Amino acid sequence: MVTQIKTPSTKTIPYIREFPLIGSQYAFRHDRLNFLLHVAQQGDVCGFHVGLVPIILFNKPEHVQSILVEHASDFIRGQRLRKAIAGNGLLIAEGEFHRQQRKLMAPLFQPRYLASYSDTMTQYGERFQQQWSDGVVIDLHREMINLVVNILGKVLFDMDSIETDELVAAIAVTFARSTYVLSSPFAFPLNWPTPHNRRFHKAKQYIRDLLQRIITERLNSTTEHNDLISLLLRARYEDGSRMSDQQIMAECWTLLTAGHETTAVALIWVWYLLCQHPEVYERVQQEVDSVLEGQSPTYDDLPRLPYCLQVFKEAMRLYSPAPAVRREALRDVEIDGYLLPKDATVLVSPYTMHRRPEYFPQPEQFDPERFSPEREKDIPRYAYFPFGGGPRVCIGNHFSMLEGHLLLATLAQRMTFTLVPGQTIRFDIENTLTLRPKGKVEVIVKKR
Ligand code: HEM
Repeated sequence: MVTQIKTPSTKTIPYIREFPLIGSQYAFRHDRLNFLLHVAQQGDVCGFHVGLVPIILFNKPEHVQSILVEHASDFIRGQRLRKAIAGNGLLIAEGEFHRQQRKLMAPLFQPRYLASYSDTMTQYGERFQQQWSDGVVIDLHREMINLVVNILGKVLFDMDSIETDELVAAIAVTFARSTYVLSSPFAFPLNWPTPHNRRFHKAKQYIRDLLQRIITERLNSTTEHNDLISLLLRARYEDGSRMSDQQIMAECWTLLTAGHETTAVALIWVWYLLCQHPEVYERVQQEVDSVLEGQSPTYDDLPRLPYCLQVFKEAMRLYSPAPAVRREALRDVEIDGYLLPKDATVLVSPYTMHRRPEYFPQPEQFDPERFSPEREKDIPRYAYFPFGGGPRVCIGNHFSMLEGHLLLATLAQRMTFTLVPGQTIRFDIENTLTLRPKGKVEVIVKKR
């Protein structure tokens, strides 16, 4: 059921029928993914309210291109995100400051550096798999996060082992705060001494102290390191100056937080889906066995492991780690004939778009063949966009594709996971911005 709200545009934005004052606050907070699917089912464009704040979901590939690419300069990520996310890194930078930071940081993610990170990714994959003995039960949720955080610790800071448990717990607290601010119309201000806020300040202080220690050590050290923080310290703006220590801290924070949960979540769902589709799992293992012949995969092996990549892409289609991308209009802007007033909030959602049957027939079915070279080219641009698009497309895009591809090949070669029966696996979308599972995902390890 939809009601019509008139705007002075050529087309009228339909809104779902909602409760007065609170709108769809409850469903958006507690059952966000089903709620977004419900909104998407109403039409290509449909609005709803979180409290009194209207939000419009645009759900056609052309809309994604229009909002994230063509009209990129007419939108910002927004005040709400700024309030929700700690620090002042790339993720929340806007306008000219964002352009400057992005220009400085983009080279760090170029292929020549990526190739050098690939050995670290495989080595850690091998190190982790050696710790899991045959027949043991592991929690994929914990292990994939630890694995990815350890890889980031090495790539970012050249640290052989990072204080994973404490760090992951602290980041989780900051994420929970971000989600709460983004999905609640009346979030308590940060200076109120609520238990939530106290936990948040403690977690923030922990991450800040850790990063400060690393930066200070690095500034006082004469040893050469082959890591991202060294590249950040060496990078220069157009006027020849370097980033302030404070900005370096903000960027490391951003890379650490934006870079770990997303890739880890993607990998968790890869294994979960493989466990449920043994025929696909077998094909992955046949590919790695025949191509790698028992050796660890390298950067150069990847083109010969196309099926592994198809599996990774298809897992991110079904369970896109970042299920929605949000923007606020900087000025009045027209998208596909719909006039959006200044400050309007819009969403585009990989989660809903990736389930449009006209682009992905039988969308709930896990089918890596969708990404075979013959079929992938028929997917319209921006019908698949797990990394967003335009000038703010994920800077870690190639990094995480590389990491996912390598870790999938490394672990599939050495072992087979089987889901421990009787588990109920659900999303934890209430507490996080990513598509993290709620609680454990337990598997039994069988060494090959
Ligand atoms: C599967 C893994 C990943 C997924 C699905 C993902 C998804 C995304 C998406 C959708 C955006 C755009 C959000 C928007 O436009 O509002 C984004 C931005 C970003 N991501 Fe990722 N990401 C992943 C991995 C990474 C990694 C590994 C890093 C860093 C090491 C990273 C760092 C960032 C940063 C810094 C931004 C902000 C870019 C900017 O605004 O210029 N991400 N990511």
